[in-house]
Amino acid sequence: MTDGGSSIEAVRRLLATLVAAKPRGRIAELGTAYGDGASAMVAALPPEATFITVENDPERFQLAAQRLAGTRAEMVLGDWRELLPERGPFDLLFLDAGDAAQSAALAISMLAPGGILVKDDLTPGRSRDGDPVREALLGNPLLVACEIQTAPAAAAIVAVRRAP
Ligand SMILES: C[S@@+](CC[C@H](N)C(=O)[O-])C[C@H]1O[C@@H](n2cnc3c(N)ncnc32)[C@H](O)[C@@H]1O
Repeated sequence: MTDGGSSIEAVRRLLATLVAAKPRGRIAELGTAYGDGASAMVAALPPEATFITVENDPERFQLAAQRLAGTRAEMVLGDWRELLPERGPFDLLFLDAGDAAQSAALAISMLAPGGILVKDDLTPGRSRDGDPVREALLGNPLLVACEIQTAPAAAAIVAVRRAP
C-alpha cells in the first residue's frame, strides 16, 4: 500500500535527536517514502549505530535510493511486516507505514527493552478513548508513552518499551 508523504521538519528533528541518543542503536524506519525522514536520521547516526529503512513502493524506493546513495542507510524494498521482524530487536523504530493501529503490536514486538517507538501524523487534541492508534500506543501496558504536539495541526507519540 502506498500512502502518505514526507515527515515534517519538527518530526525529523525529533527523530535525529533520538538517533543521536542511541550510540550503538539498531534503528529502523518503517516506510521510507522519498527518504526525507531517513536523510535526517542517517545524518545523526552515531558511528557504531545501524540504520535500516523499508519501503514497499518500487518507485518511491528508487527515488529514495538515489537520495540516500553513499550514506550508511541500509535500504530494503518490500513489506516491513515480512522483512523486518527477523532483523530486530530495534532500539528506535519510526512507525510510518500503513495502518499503525493494525501493525502496532508487531512493531512493539520488534522493540528491545528501552527501545523507542515514534508515530507521527496524529491530529492533536483528540482523546485516547476511541482512537485506535492512541489506544494501541498510549494505552499499552508494555509501553511508557506520551503525546507531543509537533505543529499547530500535528502531533506524535513517543513510546518506550518497558524492561521486562
Ligand atoms: C508517510 S510515508 C513515509 C514517510 C517517511 N518515513 C518520511 O519520514 O519522510 C509512508 C510510506 O510507507 C510505505 N508503506 C506502506 N505500507 C508499507 C509496508 N507494509 N511496508 C513498507 N512500506 C510501506 C508507503 O508506500 C509510503 O511511502
